[in-house]
Amino acid sequence: MSSGARTISFLSGKGGTGKTNICVNLGVAIQKLGKKVLMIDGDLGLANIEVILGLTPKYTLYDVLYRGMDLESVVTYGPEGVLIIPGGSGALELSKVDANRQKILMEQLIDLGSNLDYIFIDGGAGIHQDVLTFASGSDEIIIVMTPEPTSLADAYTLIKAITLSSANKEIKIIVNRVKSSSEGEDTVNRLNILLVRFLRFSVIYLGHIPDDIWVEKAVKEQLPFITRYPFSKASRAVNEIALKLLALEKKGTGFRGFFRNILERISTR
Ligand SMILES: Nc1ncnc2c1ncn2[C@@H]1O[C@H](COP(=O)(O)OP(=O)(O)OP(=O)(O)O)[C@@H](O)[C@H]1O
Ligand SMILES: [Mg+2]
Repeated sequence: MSSGARTISFLSGKGGTGKTNICVNLGVAIQKLGKKVLMIDGDLGLANIEVILGLTPKYTLYDVLYRGMDLESVVTYGPEGVLIIPGGSGALELSKVDANRQKILMEQLIDLGSNLDYIFIDGGAGIHQDVLTFASGSDEIIIVMTPEPTSLADAYTLIKAITLSSANKEIKIIVNRVKSSSEGEDTVNRLNILLVRFLRFSVIYLGHIPDDIWVEKAVKEQLPFITRYPFSKASRAVNEIALKLLALEKKGTGFRGFFRNILERISTR
């Protein structure tokens, strides 16, 4: 396997658990630690990453795929110099894109990705086909959940779908909006009891982020909380998770691996 950027998809069983906020702030935190990070808005609906960062990109990946635009003119810079590719709806449904265009885009993405350390995909919620495609393509999967029982059930359903569609994927969990530090670990323990019993599978606990009013304030200001409120509890927690992720020292396969995986998956469907 060729080494490259670590591609990480941020997914959740239900919407609104904090994926976009965590993807953006963790990305900025890791960039601050000296790594090169690119974020892709993989969400079908709203342009999430751009909204949180207060960016209004003229063009999105959609223009690259369907209007013949160069990837270069779509890539934008965010805080600390992170790279951002605005998604646009339906963007990564590669099976619908003209084969030649698809090839050009993949080459451009592989080229761009060759200088990066991390590729973060803000992947959307639920068990939509695109979510499973991101999951199968990425080197790593991070599921963002909250401590509520409904979130547990939704996370379980998503993990079941991922294990069925792409076996042997390691899944890490971030528990967001916890009220105490033990709540994160408790939530993942409960999830693992279900997973081991019914799927013979278990997930890795990556960390928790407290429920913090500074997150909402930063969202309203359209700035990442990690730079706007660096001393907030949420920022400290994100920095800890960033260090933990770096310490794992995994090898990534970059965009090359990503496309190889999803094309394999499409061809066996
Ligand atoms: N740790 C936190 N503390 C307080 N509020 C939070 C926290 N995390 C997220 N929120 C709130 O939840 C809202 C939704 O977060 P976010 O947009 O990141 O979720 P999402 O999972 O990306 O949603 P969607 O599924 O719609 O894409 C934020 O606007 C913020 O107000
Ligand atoms: Mg989102």
